Amino acid sequence: MADAALIAAHRRAMFASMGGFEDSVLDEVRRSSQPWTARLIKEGKYLGWITADEGRPIASAGMLILDWPPHPLDPTGETRAYLLNVFVEPDYRRRGLARSLLELCLFEARRRNIRVVSLHASREGASLYAQLGFKTSNEMLFRNS
Ligand SMILES: CC(C)(COP(=O)(O)OP(=O)(O)OC[C@H]1O[C@@H](n2cnc3c(N)ncnc32)[C@H](O)[C@@H]1OP(=O)(O)O)[C@@H](O)C(=O)NCCC(=O)NCCS
Repeated sequence: MADAALIAAHRRAMFASMGGFEDSVLDEVRRSSQPWTARLIKEGKYLGWITADEGRPIASAGMLILDWPPHPLDPTGETRAYLLNVFVEPDYRRRGLARSLLELCLFEARRRNIRVVSLHASREGASLYAQLGFKTSNEMLFRNS
C-alpha cells in the first residue's frame, strides 16, 4: 500500500506520455488514483511490480484481478486480469524493461489460473503487446457526458 503514491505518479506519467490530456485532468487522475490503488492493493485486487535502478523506481506495471463471468474463452473461470499503469521512465526505454514487467504479470496470471488478460494499448505500447501475443478485441466504449 505504501507504493500507491508511486503507482499513481506513474499512472499520471503514462497518460502524460500518451499526450492529449490537460494537466489539470492528469493531476486529478493522480490525486484520485492514490487512495483507489491503496484500497485495491489492500483488497488483494491490485498486484504490481516495480523496477528500480539503485533503489530509484524507474518503471512499473500493474494487474487488476476482476470478477468476470464464465465465457467461451474460459468456460469455468470466474476472474480475468487487466493490465494497467505500464510505464517506463524515458531514459530507460527500449531495454526490455516493459517486456520483463509484462512477462511477470502474465506469469502471475497463469499461476492463478487466469486465462484471459486484457488491456488498453497506447500507440507506443501496442507493438510490444502484439509481440507478447495480445490480439485486438471487439471492445466498444461509451462515455456519459
Ligand atoms: C510503452 C513503454 C511502456 C515501453 O517500455 P520499454 O521498456 O521501452 O519497452 P521494451 O524495451 O520492453 O520494448 C519496447 C521496444 O523496444 C525494443 N527493445 C527491447 N529491448 C531492446 C534493446 N535492448 N535495444 C533496442 N530495442 C529494444 C522492443 O523489441 C520493443 O520494440 P517495438 O518498438 O517493436 O515495440 C514505454 O515506452 C512507456 O512507458 N511509454 C509511455 C507510457 C505508455 O505508453 N505505456 C503503455 C500504456 S498501454
